[in-house]
Amino acid sequence: MLGVGLGLTCCVVGSAIAATPVGFWERVVDKPYMHLPVRNGAPKRLIRWIVDDTLAREFEIELAEGEPDFWTYTEVKTYMGKTLRLEVDPFPKDDTWVNTVTLSNRWPEMDTLYRERLRPQFHFSPSRGWMNDPNGLVYYDGEYHLFFQHNPYGRQWGNMTWGHAVSEDMIHWRQLPDAIHPDKLGTIFSGSAVVDHRNTTGWQKDRHKPIVAIYTSAGGSNVQSRDQPFTQSIAYSTDRGRSFTPYQGNPVLGHIEASNRDPKVLWHEPTGKWVMILYLDRSRFGLFGSLDLKNWSQMSEVWMPDGHECPDLFELPVDGDPKNTRWVVWEAAGRYLIGDFDGQTFTPESELLESRFGANDYAGQTFSNMPSEDGRRIQIAWMSGGIYPGMPFNQQMTVPRVLSLRSTRDGVRLFIEPVKEIERLRGLENRMDDLTLGESPRKIQGVQGDLFDIELELEIGDSERLGLDVRGHRIEFLSGTNELTALDRVVTLKPEDGRILLRLLVDRTSVEVFANRGRVQMASCFLPADEESGLSLYALGGAAKATSVTVWELRSIWNLE
Ligand code: FRU
Repeated sequence: MLGVGLGLTCCVVGSAIAATPVGFWERVVDKPYMHLPVRNGAPKRLIRWIVDDTLAREFEIELAEGEPDFWTYTEVKTYMGKTLRLEVDPFPKDDTWVNTVTLSNRWPEMDTLYRERLRPQFHFSPSRGWMNDPNGLVYYDGEYHLFFQHNPYGRQWGNMTWGHAVSEDMIHWRQLPDAIHPDKLGTIFSGSAVVDHRNTTGWQKDRHKPIVAIYTSAGGSNVQSRDQPFTQSIAYSTDRGRSFTPYQGNPVLGHIEASNRDPKVLWHEPTGKWVMILYLDRSRFGLFGSLDLKNWSQMSEVWMPDGHECPDLFELPVDGDPKNTRWVVWEAAGRYLIGDFDGQTFTPESELLESRFGANDYAGQTFSNMPSEDGRRIQIAWMSGGIYPGMPFNQQMTVPRVLSLRSTRDGVRLFIEPVKEIERLRGLENRMDDLTLGESPRKIQGVQGDLFDIELELEIGDSERLGLDVRGHRIEFLSGTNELTALDRVVTLKPEDGRILLRLLVDRTSVEVFANRGRVQMASCFLPADEESGLSLYALGGAAKATSVTVWELRSIWNLE
């Protein structure tokens, strides 16, 4: 027995739960948060949480021996007064980490939280650990919920858990404790959430409607679920999303094929049932129907060449006309089909279309249960692949953006624009009209910092290329080929009356470009240079004009006063 003080014990034993010898840390929970030290690249160790002799959680962590890179945390409030044992396998030779595991009233490193050098200031990022797809986007009772693929215990993908944040305006987010944890059916992969207004599940207890999360149980991705396949499960909350209970009868949809995953569920009013679109395998998606979210049967399939993962299915008016609607089937890489859906079968009417032109934009999902008076279809996507060296978190989301179908000369297309709520962050404004642009860049004066909202109307004139230099990165239009380039990605953009309209949202490590009122959008991440080079406009190979330039400094969403 190895006594290490602080009222905790640690030793090496043969665990009742695991067959191999492991070490443990044990303590009565008397504070709401547990901090664990992480060292990037340290050997991964399996930690099992045992509460009252029952396995409560299991995860892998690069446990720091010696100086940690950061502390990760987890809420342990539900175990208050109980003895929590952490079994560590394999047990590190150096047990100094034992003294650094702490119970606390606060998250760790609060004095630097959200002030880190590479922390996005108005794009959501997790306080700690890895994040990928947005999950379960749902509005309920005055709050937007953003769940997300989360590794709470490290900077790399793993331990897939549904992280959780809420917001009253889709802009200012508050991270809550993780919502759904890995279990014996698997880690918790992507999915959606709905509000069960008609109590089809029978889970409504009081005035609050059940929020039901539908997700993939990724069998085989954790020790507990060894040999299980990928299936679909549900968990419900009757307390405004503050706690979720996995359904006892999980999975609600058994394994169909391959790594079938990422259920998106909606209520289909005309046929009075729940509809799920699920990625099956190799460009194929299944459509399933259910009356109670617990029993599902397959109705049909959708085929989308090269389509895979994280589907979405929604109806939108064309040109804002509620009498003329179309359905959209969407997949993770931003390819989509426009067509008709009768509650049973989706019939495509368009060719395969593309909406994603930036380097860092994946797995977009739209909110369900938006207030009926709002009427917008709002999507958030994962800005996949940005890099955040030295940070205790990894990855960020796009800003929420409005999807609409509009007629163009090429046919009906999906337009993507940022939500108007972003304007709440606007501070100091600098507006200039009719600036002649030539070879020498015109620096935009009068605004400072690294967070901007920029609106530009550019008259191409006889210039060959024109654009904006954003802190050393070019957003540039080539007039010969009608190509817009943003951080090395290129897309065709047709000028309108010899002009292009650009809206740019510039954060500390990303820029989102929306061109010609959302006809084209490009979301890209960058690593800021140490030297701050500001914003400047330029035109090469001829003269151009910036007919209007408006730049707003933006405020951080993290209330860092
Ligand atoms: C997409 C994805 C999903 C899966 C999740 C796992 O990025 O691969 O298909 O559910 O990530 O984190």
